[in-house]
Amino acid sequence: MTDFRFLMAQAQTAREKSYSPYSRFRVGAALLTKSGKIYLGCNIENAAYSATVCAERTAIFKAVSEGERDFEALAIVGGREGETAEFCAPCGVCRQVIAEFCPKDFKIILGNENKFEVYTLDRLLPLTFTKQDL
Ligand code: THU
Repeated sequence: MTDFRFLMAQAQTAREKSYSPYSRFRVGAALLTKSGKIYLGCNIENAAYSATVCAERTAIFKAVSEGERDFEALAIVGGREGETAEFCAPCGVCRQVIAEFCPKDFKIILGNENKFEVYTLDRLLPLTFTKQDL
């Protein structure tokens, strides 16, 4: 049984690096590969707001750019600056990026280190448009 509490703790560590001076909403993500490696990501904002990237995509793009494509689970932790993270659902764009690389039963863990729930990609993004449709 994978230690999802550990993965949530890693996401929490990633959140500490969040660069979010505009929204003051800090997010961290920890992506576990099938080979057991963990890639961390945080949200990185920009004065030109649309150049902002979410924590989930930072983690996924780091991993893919290092040659990793087989993923086991993704833990996400987010909340307002200065507050304990409670629950942060991934945005639609990140769900679509996850769907590019991960199967329907891919596990997405939401909540925080002490209280979290395991979701599947299929539950968060049903009726997905993927490469199989092209
Ligand atoms: N954000 C993420 O990093 N991940 C999410 O799942 C939701 C939103 C970021 C983007 C932006 O920097 C801030 O949170 C507020 O939207």
